[in-house]
Amino acid sequence: MFRSAVVGAGFIGKAHIEAIRRLGNVEIVALCDEDDAQKKAADCCISKSYSDFRQLLENEELDVVHICTPNNTHYEIAKACILKGVNFICEKPFTMTVEQAEELVQLANEKHVKGMVNFHNRMYPMVNEIRQMIKNDELGALFSVHGEYVQDWLLYDTDYSWRLDSSQVGKTRAISDIGSHWFDLVEFVTGDRIVSLSANFRTVFNKRKKPTNNVQTFTKGAGSDFSEVDIDTEDIATVMFKMAGGAIGSFIVSQAFSGRKNTTVVNVAGSKESAIWTSEDLNNLYIGLRDEANRILTKDASLMHGHSSSLVSYPSGHIEGFPDAFKQGFKQFYSSLNSEGEYDYATLEDGLREMKLNDAVYLSNQKQTWIDV
Ligand SMILES: NC(=O)c1ccc[n+]([C@@H]2O[C@H](COP(=O)([O-])OP(=O)(O)OC[C@H]3O[C@@H](n4cnc5c(N)ncnc54)[C@H](O)[C@@H]3O)[C@@H](O)[C@H]2O)c1
Repeated sequence: MFRSAVVGAGFIGKAHIEAIRRLGNVEIVALCDEDDAQKKAADCCISKSYSDFRQLLENEELDVVHICTPNNTHYEIAKACILKGVNFICEKPFTMTVEQAEELVQLANEKHVKGMVNFHNRMYPMVNEIRQMIKNDELGALFSVHGEYVQDWLLYDTDYSWRLDSSQVGKTRAISDIGSHWFDLVEFVTGDRIVSLSANFRTVFNKRKKPTNNVQTFTKGAGSDFSEVDIDTEDIATVMFKMAGGAIGSFIVSQAFSGRKNTTVVNVAGSKESAIWTSEDLNNLYIGLRDEANRILTKDASLMHGHSSSLVSYPSGHIEGFPDAFKQGFKQFYSSLNSEGEYDYATLEDGLREMKLNDAVYLSNQKQTWIDV
């Protein structure tokens, strides 16, 4: 049995706990949260709790720490894990700055510590299927890649969370929070790299109403007890880009798109076929053809490429979604601690790569020019 601990028991920490438990070979020995740790641990049926990650690392023998806290804490928790020789799975974005990510990559290599950044979209079977199709040249030369990642939970100026505070989220918000997923997804499926980009930001509200009480992520409304705070991060961003292999592309991220709760779309157009995937219909892959009827490949291990079928746990017709992607990513990471293999999870280098893209986007909007990545 592997021994693990989860740091941060908010929205995503609980998703980690559930996914870890589905693996069967990992025991969660402790939960750490700076706020009400004991109750949160008891609610999750975890016997030990800590309010400080340093004490957790000091007192427990751990194989893996899951870092599920706000972005500004990832660096110091990950660094403490590395120095203690403990492997870790870190939520995205990896760090607040490129420099922090570079330091952690180097340190982890020196100390032989393994890390993963939880870009879970890679673990959807039909996303992986596009990657295998592209590897097999089924799409042909890639012409264009476009898409979106849109949500509506910040549509009103009464919507608030720590993500609105740039000291906690980083200098970009929509980009680092959800654009990071899209960037990782697109470079993962195409196996190609974005080499230059041009971005535009829009901040819909320059001031928002911050509730005086602590708010949980994705909960609504400030009520009557609030203070007005300045907002210095983007609600919406558009990005145009060029890829090393010649494809050109664009995407939009928005946290103020009414009615879209958490929609990711990726369209890849090649010289032979196109592939279209959306998180709102995530067990179907649309294959676009010019000279015959278009096809829909519904998740079914027996009809998929060997590698992507390894991400399928249930028979066709049985939907696999968000919690399953977490399970598959963690399964791969824990397996990689003991054996070499072809793993799809995002490494620390991938986390660093995505931080460089975030930086380029920020700079491009600021300078209103194309930036080489
Ligand atoms: N992979 C995904 O799809 C996905 C989805 C949501 C969030 N995330 C990422 O997960 C992270 C957490 O987001 P969330 O939505 O769960 O936030 P959240 O606010 O719901 O939960 C954060 C938790 O961390 C605790 N915490 C804060 N600082 C701490 C510290 N120093 N030590 C211990 N505990 C601390 C808080 O008390 C809270 O319980 C973010 O980095 C976010 O980007 C990833």
